[in-house]
Amino acid sequence: MQHPESTIRSTNSFPFINRCKGCILSAMLENLKVRLSDLILAFSRVLDFVSPQVANHHLRVAIIASEIAQSFGVSRQESSDIFLAATIHDIGVFSVREKFEALEFEMANPHLHAERGYLLVKDYNRFSRAASLIRHHHTPWASGEGCTSNGEEVPIGAHVLHLADRIEVLIYKNMEILSQKKHIVSAIRCHSGKMFMPELVEAFEDLAVRESFWFDAISPEIPQIISDRGRLPDHELDITELLNISRIFSNIIDYRSSFTAVHSTGVSAVSSMLAQMVGFSDSECVMMTVAGYLHDIGKLAIPPEILDKPGKLTEEEFNIIKSHVYHSYRILEGVAGIETINTWGSLHHERIDGTGYPFHLKGSRLPIGSRIMAVADVFTAITEDRPYRKGMAGEHALKVIQGMAQNNALDHSIVGMASTYFGHLNDVRIEAQRKAGEGYQSIKQLLS
Ligand SMILES: [Fe+2]
Ligand SMILES: [Fe+2]
Ligand SMILES: [Fe+2]
Repeated sequence: MQHPESTIRSTNSFPFINRCKGCILSAMLENLKVRLSDLILAFSRVLDFVSPQVANHHLRVAIIASEIAQSFGVSRQESSDIFLAATIHDIGVFSVREKFEALEFEMANPHLHAERGYLLVKDYNRFSRAASLIRHHHTPWASGEGCTSNGEEVPIGAHVLHLADRIEVLIYKNMEILSQKKHIVSAIRCHSGKMFMPELVEAFEDLAVRESFWFDAISPEIPQIISDRGRLPDHELDITELLNISRIFSNIIDYRSSFTAVHSTGVSAVSSMLAQMVGFSDSECVMMTVAGYLHDIGKLAIPPEILDKPGKLTEEEFNIIKSHVYHSYRILEGVAGIETINTWGSLHHERIDGTGYPFHLKGSRLPIGSRIMAVADVFTAITEDRPYRKGMAGEHALKVIQGMAQNNALDHSIVGMASTYFGHLNDVRIEAQRKAGEGYQSIKQLLS
């Protein structure tokens, strides 16, 4: 775990900041090297933590789809798009109920989650082609009519993804794989021409004779196999791209729950402003923004039915909620280059007196960045409106965070800073969340 810092930086320059705007970002940021593939794999894996019944669904579909695409003979670019789309194809599935419905071979209404997924990622340039595949990953072939949908061309990759997805849901997880082969091949063949493009079914049948195809599909080493084959786009992200992709991910994390639909955006804005007040460099403030976007990434592993439960949580439900920070930490730990961002973001429920969770770190073991995030998280959670209650007004909110500082749960100095500039911080939060809220509402309206 990251070595801790425990005091406010002496370079505190807020609000009389005399910072040179546009100054060159520090060496730390210039050296930031994050592979897009690592980030996508981490994201893909956490999507399937939500239930053991869907464990590795995305990565299994990715490996099956990529084998079919190769056997069929698509271009390198198309193959990469298929792989990328497959790793996140069900991001538009918001509830566990929908998740289980998606495991039915002939699901009743697949288009809502496919359209949601498309809307969530289409504006990020690296995902724009994959977005179209996600949109159509349940479009049936329908004797060739599935070449287009609503006047729009459906890429072959979408049909590859559809086929791979349905093969994966036919695999019984508790049964030996090779003895299932005959049944799966015949079920798919039955739907050739109707659900699936016949040439792709043929490509699948060619592959199905190989034991390795089936063993790969269920291998516990899938993340390693995927990395070794290098089939995901392997760009190194600069900070602008890291910011963009984190913002997209934060929407996916937040939009699953109407209760907290703009929470990460608010935390991100408040934490980076607090970091600036405390004297973090420009580059560190950008890293704090990213940390805020990703701090609740582990919530993807929590059933939205629990996140959105009206009324009091049972002890078991609260325990499940508690696991979100553990998942955030462990999943981001696998992404080289974001160690500091992970430490700042994922430790936001730790408390200075050691009463937080999940690691019970205390005192000087909690870096200043994590302390800032803890204050930003509480600040945002109590001041933001939720569908079931209004956010706390200034005085009331201040009392809460100051009380937590007095009890040695939150950092005194940071809470002092947040109290002094409460109005400014709150305005920053409101504006950031207003913009994010517009995005959320527009997706809701488009799909209603
Ligand atoms: Fe799906
Ligand atoms: Fe799926
Ligand atoms: Fe959290």
